[in-house]
Amino acid sequence: MTTTGHQIVFANSQNLSMLADDSIDLVVTSPPYPMIQMWDSLFASFSKAIAGALKNQNGDKAFSLMHQELDAVWKEMYRVLKNGGFLCINIGDAVRTLRDRFQLFPNHSRIIAACTETGFHLLPVVLWRKQTNAPNKFMGSGMLPAGAYVTLEHEYILIFRKGDKRLFTHPSEKLARQESAFFWEERNIWFSDVWDFKGASQTLNHKKLRERSAAFPFELPFRLIQMYSLKQDTVLDPFLGTGITTLAAMASCRNSVGIELDGNFQQIILDQARAAQPGLNQRISERLASHAQFIETRNSSGKNLKHMNAPHGFPVMTRQERELRIESIADILVESDKEIKVMYRQLSADNPPAAPTAPLNLPENIRQRSLAF
Ligand SMILES: C[S@@+](CC[C@H](N)C(=O)[O-])C[C@H]1O[C@@H](n2cnc3c(N)ncnc32)[C@H](O)[C@@H]1O
Repeated sequence: MTTTGHQIVFANSQNLSMLADDSIDLVVTSPPYPMIQMWDSLFASFSKAIAGALKNQNGDKAFSLMHQELDAVWKEMYRVLKNGGFLCINIGDAVRTLRDRFQLFPNHSRIIAACTETGFHLLPVVLWRKQTNAPNKFMGSGMLPAGAYVTLEHEYILIFRKGDKRLFTHPSEKLARQESAFFWEERNIWFSDVWDFKGASQTLNHKKLRERSAAFPFELPFRLIQMYSLKQDTVLDPFLGTGITTLAAMASCRNSVGIELDGNFQQIILDQARAAQPGLNQRISERLASHAQFIETRNSSGKNLKHMNAPHGFPVMTRQERELRIESIADILVESDKEIKVMYRQLSADNPPAAPTAPLNLPENIRQRSLAF
């Protein structure tokens, strides 16, 4: 039976001596955003200099010092990633008024500078456009020129590679790559440079935790994991928070390691994992259902698909999708407070995904999926 393992570690990602050099296939993460107020106290706890710069309203200094804290993590990511592995960072810029001056703090370009300096190669980035209809989203002088500011409605997904292109030489690697293929119609959406889906719910009901979760929506790591890793690879999130990357790795048949500084997240992560099976299987079934819809649309317009997928017995657009295989989750075992094991069921034409049997009680973040699927 196919299984994957998911480790949760409470530690500071600036020093991950428990992870060997060149041991990770993909990093998907979102750090605390420098100069966004909700992270001030965390950054101030890292150094007195940051606390002092914030107290003196010295924005440029605080920005620079906060990024130095993140730089140490990007260096660790370079060390632990395998040659050819990817680092995907979700980050938003910050706007803030300090000493009566309104200013943008460009987190994305500062992180690009640090990661390229570390040795990563930058690839084309994705703009994640978060839909917001908030009536108060505009800032500044209203309808009067010239003191209004454009609203930040997007974040970035920065994509870096360590070293050269990953090679797939052994026949077993070639097969794993083919089985990890995605659908042609998924490729057309996922590999576009603008992603349009809602942010995740930010409510955290926990006495000892911050008010807002700062979680990203499930769809974000889920796509990146399909795009930049193979089944059975190991995905690392050094800023795990509520553990959405762990869930996305589970749903993708990848192993994962999640690192989080704040031990108060442990219960949330484990409870969420225990309850996740129906929600994750729903997202897995949706991939198949949307492909079925795609086949129907093509057939009804007289453009039949030429290739046949062997594991599932349905037509596909290209030769590369012929071995694509999607499995559902048979069981999730929380083996200890640091280790989760996931068992999978092979899906095929004779063994389709089970229909949801009960009203789904999905974690909020899984409900907030892409509108595209
Ligand atoms: C933006 S949140 C990540 C949210 C996460 N993507 C999710 O979906 O819940 C950043 C997280 O990184 C953690 N963190 C900050 N600095 C850290 C460090 N040096 N090592 C490990 N975790 C850290 C914070 O406690 C916070 O939970």
